Amino acid sequence: MSSEEKIQETPGAKEQIAADPEKLAVPEVLSILPLQGFVFFPGMGFPLQVSHKGSKNLIDDALVKDRLVAMVAHRPMKGKQMDVVPADHLFTIGTMGYIHKIMKDKEGVYQVLVSAVRKIRVLEITQNTPYHVGRVESISMETEESQELEAMVLNLRTQFKKMAELLQLPDELTLTIMSLQNPFHIAYLAGSQLNLSLEEEQKFLEYEKATDLLKKVTLEVTKKLETLEVSQEIQKNIKEDIDKKQREFFLRQQLKAIRKELGEGDENVDLDDLRKKMKKAVLPKEAKATVEKEMGRLARIPSSSPEYTVSRTFIEWILDLPWKISTKDSLNLVKARQILDHDHYGLEKIKKRILEFLAVRTLKADLHGPILCFVGPPGVGKTSLGQSIARTMNKNFVRISLGGVRDEAEIRGHRRTYIGSLPGRIIQSLKKAGSNNPLFMLDEIDKLGNDFRGDPSSALLEVLDPEQNFTFADHYLEIPFDLSKVMFITTANYIENIPGPLRDRMEIIELSSYTEDEKVMIAKRHLINKQLEAHALTAQKVTFRDAAIRAVIRSYTREAGVRNLERNLGGICRGIAMDIVSGKFKSHVVTEKSVHKFLGPIDFYPEAAARNWGPGLATGLAWTPVGGVLLFIEAAKMKGKGSLTLTGTLGDVMKESATAALTYIRSHAKMLKIDDKQFAQEDIHVHVPAGGTPKDGPSAGVAMVVALTSLLSGKSVRKDIAMTGEITLRGDVLPVGGVKEKVLAAVRADIKEVFLPSRNEKDVLDIPASVKKGVSFHFVQEISEVLDKVFVKAD
Ligand SMILES: Nc1ncnc2c1ncn2[C@@H]1O[C@H](COP(=O)(O)OP(=O)(O)OP(=O)(O)O)[C@@H](O)[C@H]1O
Ligand SMILES: [Mg+2]
Repeated sequence: MSSEEKIQETPGAKEQIAADPEKLAVPEVLSILPLQGFVFFPGMGFPLQVSHKGSKNLIDDALVKDRLVAMVAHRPMKGKQMDVVPADHLFTIGTMGYIHKIMKDKEGVYQVLVSAVRKIRVLEITQNTPYHVGRVESISMETEESQELEAMVLNLRTQFKKMAELLQLPDELTLTIMSLQNPFHIAYLAGSQLNLSLEEEQKFLEYEKATDLLKKVTLEVTKKLETLEVSQEIQKNIKEDIDKKQREFFLRQQLKAIRKELGEGDENVDLDDLRKKMKKAVLPKEAKATVEKEMGRLARIPSSSPEYTVSRTFIEWILDLPWKISTKDSLNLVKARQILDHDHYGLEKIKKRILEFLAVRTLKADLHGPILCFVGPPGVGKTSLGQSIARTMNKNFVRISLGGVRDEAEIRGHRRTYIGSLPGRIIQSLKKAGSNNPLFMLDEIDKLGNDFRGDPSSALLEVLDPEQNFTFADHYLEIPFDLSKVMFITTANYIENIPGPLRDRMEIIELSSYTEDEKVMIAKRHLINKQLEAHALTAQKVTFRDAAIRAVIRSYTREAGVRNLERNLGGICRGIAMDIVSGKFKSHVVTEKSVHKFLGPIDFYPEAAARNWGPGLATGLAWTPVGGVLLFIEAAKMKGKGSLTLTGTLGDVMKESATAALTYIRSHAKMLKIDDKQFAQEDIHVHVPAGGTPKDGPSAGVAMVVALTSLLSGKSVRKDIAMTGEITLRGDVLPVGGVKEKVLAAVRADIKEVFLPSRNEKDVLDIPASVKKGVSFHFVQEISEVLDKVFVKAD
């Protein structure tokens, strides 16, 4: 026997169901098939599994009769495994089903294909065994057409469609809902898809009015839809999150593989190193807390992220700073003097001032004394004096060049929010110094910029101010660093350019240009030895004659300091080293002649001698930040109407000075024996050569008068004299600044007589006699005293 037994259908009934299930008459009595846990809604059809013996009997009996059964759900029977469902557990409303066919499987379970055709009410149970039988009546599912009902149906259909899409229900279901006509059927089909409890489903069945049923079902569908939408949103978010995580994980794995392939270390080793370093570092509380916090953060950042590097660099900066590392200061004044003398020739006054300064500092260790500032032309030893001071005090030395620093952030650092930000120069230099009490040389403090990018001088002020600098806060570090133990020395070429508030805090020590004799001594004592050593030569092999050194100074340098001298001496040493190596000679005495051989064509000739001399030319003296210089004033005349042209990049003050000079001459023409017709018939041009360099100041007044007088009177000015002084329209000569530098420039240029304002006499007294040797000075009150002496005597 086959496992399935087919039972033939009642002919006719099927057709009738298909045509109109409503028409199938409900008999008065029906056997009742209890449904466990679900409701069979009218209009539906599906196979039921029937395994209960009584129910199987029921099916068998129904099949031989009209194939109709009452299908009624029953309430759960708590715990009890009863053979027959007690009658009081059965609901009263159910459906009448028509059995299409049954199949029996091996275990004897019936698969019964049923359609629910009518809604019924059980009026009375008349029999309980072997199955329930009861009296029943039909419940109408007819509706009256109304707009309300239509609207409700439409609403349910749209809501259901949305829900079906979200739940991915089969399309046929939606199509069915769309095509069904009876509102009850629509509502039942929709309601059956909601997975509601038995009680709730039973309630659907019990609604008598279609509108009530539709309302309830629509409400449930809408609720479900909302839940679905929210959970879908959540799902989407979770999925996105997971997708991203997966992607990241995937990429990181790839990265790891690539790293491994490249043989690069992995991050744990890196972190371990950092932790070891942190253990070793001696940090103040605040720094320690910051590092620990940052380490915690770092451990959580993947090493491939740019954040990792930023965070790591920050930690390293903190760990590398000498928070608690100091060198032991020592100062023995005798030894200090020795060191200063050993490193520098001359500079007597300056060395004395330095020693005084150091002595006071040691007496009062906590002294917030002024900061030393060396001011003077280039190459006179400002930086190297700073180095010597560091040596005398046994301090670490760091030079910070401030030239061109325009941005406050260069001093104080950038906030860490900027990519690639770093601490400012102060903190960088501390790291370089490796101790918290080094000597900082702030070079070129006069060349600090100041513009829209912020004012670095105010940041510097904080650095230098003992009242504030013990909590110096760099923008990058954010933790304060105590700078109070740092010793600061500053340098500048031009005192006027140091920002006022900074200058107030400093003790200015002025260094002036060296005279030729001093330069010779510096060369003999220091520079030559340094250069010999640098070129692996010895004093036994090479000796310099004094005349040779002088030749280098005169013909190859024109400077206040000794930097170019040192460079040229180096050039000579290089030449000698070459010749020794190539076997030309074993030792060498450098003479004037060999200087020219090694250094080639002469760079500088005596300035005045080099000029094509004649009427209209006079030698003035000027002060510049790089030392004194000769300033030649040229005047020329040509046919015209008496106009005055001025050229040579002159500043306003110097232009006025030229005009004043001309006015003086015109108003004193008779006394000066000048033909005053010239003023109406000639144009005058005054030029100050070296047109590229801007010149200003009133001190060329005297030289202007002399040049113009020479031009207009046709008498030449003597070549070997120079002059400086401001003039008034009445011919008074007023004092000027920079006398020492000017005199030194005159001496360098072989000038024999210098005319100065009488009120500058005291400045000349300060110049050492050795420097002034060979020069005579004229101190004048009026320009006429100059004009009496400067012209070449007609013989
Ligand atoms: N009196 C001196 N004795 C020995 N060497 C000197 C003396 N003066 C300067 N020097 C040497 O001259 C060179 C230049 O000096 P340094 O660099 O200190 O000049 P500076 O005044 O700092 O110039 P700048 O203003 O250009 O910075 C150094 O090698 C220095 O040792
Ligand atoms: Mg310097």
